[in-house]
Amino acid sequence: MINAQLLFSLSFISICFGKIYENVAELAPLEYDFVIVGGGTAGLVVANRLTENAKFSVLVLEAGVNNQDVLDSTVPFLVNDLLVPNIYEWNYTTTPQSGLNGRALPYLRAHMLGGCSAHNLMFYTRGPKDDFDRYAKLTGDAGWSWNRIFPYFLKNEKWTPPTDLHDTTGQFDPSVHSTHGMNPVSLNGYAWPFGPRVIAATKELPDEFPFNLDMNSGKPLGVGWLQSTIGEGKRSSSASSYLVPFVSRKNLHVLLHAQVTRLVNASHERGKLAFGGVEFLQSAKARKEIILSAGTIGTPHILMHSGVGDGRALHALGFHSLLDLPSVGQNISDHVSVGLSWSVNSTETLESITQNATNFNEAFAHWNKTHTGPFVDLGITHVGWLRLDPNSEALHQFPDPSAGRDTAHIELIFSAGFSRRSASTPQGHFMNIGTVMVTPLSRGSITLNSSNPLDPPLINPRYLTSDFDLFVLRDALKRAQRFVTAPVWKDYILAPTVNIGNFTTDELDQFIRNNAGTISHLVGSAAMSARGARYGVVDPDLIVKGATRLSVIDASVLPIVPSAHTQSTTYIIAERGADLVKARWT
Ligand SMILES: Cc1cc2nc3c(=O)[nH]c(=O)nc-3n(C[C@H](O)[C@H](O)[C@H](O)COP(=O)(O)OP(=O)(O)OC[C@H]3O[C@@H](n4cnc5c(N)ncnc54)[C@H](O)[C@@H]3O)c2cc1C
Ligand SMILES: *[C@@H]1O[C@H](CO)[C@@H](O)[C@H](O)[C@H]1NC(C)=O
Ligand SMILES: *[C@@H]1O[C@H](CO)[C@@H](O)[C@H](O)[C@H]1NC(C)=O
Ligand SMILES: *[C@@H]1O[C@H](CO)[C@@H](O)[C@H](O)[C@H]1NC(C)=O
Ligand SMILES: *[C@@H]1O[C@H](CO)[C@@H](O)[C@H](O)[C@H]1NC(C)=O
Ligand SMILES: *[C@@H]1O[C@H](CO)[C@@H](O)[C@H](O)[C@H]1NC(C)=O
Ligand SMILES: *[C@@H]1O[C@H](CO)[C@@H](O)[C@H](O)[C@H]1NC(C)=O
Ligand SMILES: *[C@@H]1O[C@H](CO)[C@@H](O)[C@H](O)[C@H]1NC(C)=O
Ligand SMILES: *[C@@H]1O[C@H](CO)[C@@H](O)[C@H](O)[C@H]1NC(C)=O
Repeated sequence: MINAQLLFSLSFISICFGKIYENVAELAPLEYDFVIVGGGTAGLVVANRLTENAKFSVLVLEAGVNNQDVLDSTVPFLVNDLLVPNIYEWNYTTTPQSGLNGRALPYLRAHMLGGCSAHNLMFYTRGPKDDFDRYAKLTGDAGWSWNRIFPYFLKNEKWTPPTDLHDTTGQFDPSVHSTHGMNPVSLNGYAWPFGPRVIAATKELPDEFPFNLDMNSGKPLGVGWLQSTIGEGKRSSSASSYLVPFVSRKNLHVLLHAQVTRLVNASHERGKLAFGGVEFLQSAKARKEIILSAGTIGTPHILMHSGVGDGRALHALGFHSLLDLPSVGQNISDHVSVGLSWSVNSTETLESITQNATNFNEAFAHWNKTHTGPFVDLGITHVGWLRLDPNSEALHQFPDPSAGRDTAHIELIFSAGFSRRSASTPQGHFMNIGTVMVTPLSRGSITLNSSNPLDPPLINPRYLTSDFDLFVLRDALKRAQRFVTAPVWKDYILAPTVNIGNFTTDELDQFIRNNAGTISHLVGSAAMSARGARYGVVDPDLIVKGATRLSVIDASVLPIVPSAHTQSTTYIIAERGADLVKARWT
């Protein structure tokens, strides 16, 4: 540990040691080539790649706390304990959602180094080729197409054997993976007996639920084994993969507890808006570029507080509008989910651990000693990706929002019980199928509620305001029910916890509206669009339209939520985004 007082008086020394700082007084002068706002999933990738060039100095400003030694973030099985209000959370809530019968949902966002990669559910799903090809088309930049971004998946991923070292033949396709990237990814390292039953069901009902060897090939349709950002029994996050091993780089400083309030020192350079630096408790100068990586909520929030957004709305709050970009915070899309569960005739379920303190403590001790056993994953064994029937009524009434024929409308998530330990989970042994609507037509917004940058914004995803989305969830629930008609479940399933089998359509809709939640995949608040388009926030090179030396690199640039969980896409945006930044400054 370097003495903080010494660093303060000898600021030159602080520049020579890359480090994670807790106290701004340790850093002076606050002037860097690049200032990255947000040390989350994308921000730490960009920080890593830019500091590969020893000539670039980089400051990362992270509002939250350190993720190191946070047990619930490291032990995969314990993540649910993190997903409640705590010091690692921003504690956001959506506005009341009319599509959810007026319910307001907690909106989870990590307030720590690594961002949501340090507390998400670790699913590793790249999504369909179609989605990326559509991004390329929408932005007029072939650089976002599947074929061109594929090398970035390989740069990001470090394929790792599962902790139980089971034979993985037939569980994934090695030809689409890379063992030399940065972020460890693996198949589950603990074999719940539930897993082989799911596979048996795919063989019994192959037309509707075909087995897919590898959902990360670009063609995800079917049911396959889950892959997760887990390595050697521990969570992989952008902090563990892209920061900790590189923290000694002299040109990289990361400052915690530094919540950025706005961009400052606006000027015009060749007709474009430029900011000299960013303000937090103090302010930091960016000689070359400011990179916003504060996530889908943080990034538009900072832009609007800096006078970049819908000019009229900003005026109404008393702001001086510097750049009229009405799309900031608009057009956001997310994934809505609702689950079904069945009590089962087995004790080999997650409840054997979550509802039995002896077994729980034993499993923890086992993990603590060897990083193996049931705590190395979440007990989610498989994921299925399904399309609506081409003759379905919804596809006649609505434009198909999917990006192509290999893109799912529905995701099914299969798990060997409830992994959450809470008073509201029922007693007994269960299996669950989570259903997710992954190609929403509903679009929402993030807007300011006040002119105080420390106040949270209004998060209004407008869930299920399109009848298409409701239709997809109804269909998804029916698919889940058909899945459990496979003979393999006959002696296993005892009864559904809620019997929706005889619900009328209205009852089913009410069930969905009263129970649906979000799986936190919000994107689109600083969306990419083609150069010269009349909407959008950033150009395909991720520079804010009408600005210079200001870019956005995080999940907010995705114009439409992919038919996949969003972290791997975020990693890819960050890997390519870093290359784009490097290319303009070297
Ligand atoms: C509970 C949960 C479960 C999920 N599960 C999965 C999953 O299983 N698989 C998957 O693929 N995806 C999952 N996701 C989604 C995925 O994790 C996110 O889409 C992705 O990590 C977003 O990355 P990001 O870089 O855009 O933002 P983040 O990772 O949120 O990073 C933003 C960072 O900026 C910081 N910040 C924000 N505002 C400021 C400010 N004003 N000043 C300074 N710093 C600031 C934040 O504290 C944070 O560290 C999940 C998300 C959540 C919340
Ligand atoms: C979230 O709530 C917890 C518990 O109330 C609190 O300790 C924490 O500081 C809050 N997070 C933020 C960013 O304010
Ligand atoms: C902003 O501009 C003022 C006046 O030029 C300068 O003194 C200050 O250092 C600048 N701050 C930042 C963060 O750019
Ligand atoms: C929202 O996105 C659509 C394209 O998907 C575009 O036509 C529209 O202009 C956008 N609206 C805003 C406010 O950005
Ligand atoms: C539970 O499974 C056992 C065999 O493992 C079987 O004998 C028993 O009949 C089953 N119980 C029910 C209710 O299906
Ligand atoms: C917990 O599991 C153990 C077996 O590991 C068993 O002996 C014990 O009875 C269980 N406790 C309860 C309360 O079910
Ligand atoms: C976990 O292991 C460490 C040593 O590696 C030990 O100090 C700690 O007490 C253990 N924790 C528990 C709860 O067993
Ligand atoms: C928005 O501001 C109003 C008035 O100050 C306040 O009552 C409300 O709680 C705020 N909403 C959010 C989501 O912070
Ligand atoms: C629906 O109700 C009928 C008659 O009550 C019953 O026979 C049937 O099993 C029920 N179906 C489901 C799926 O619950």
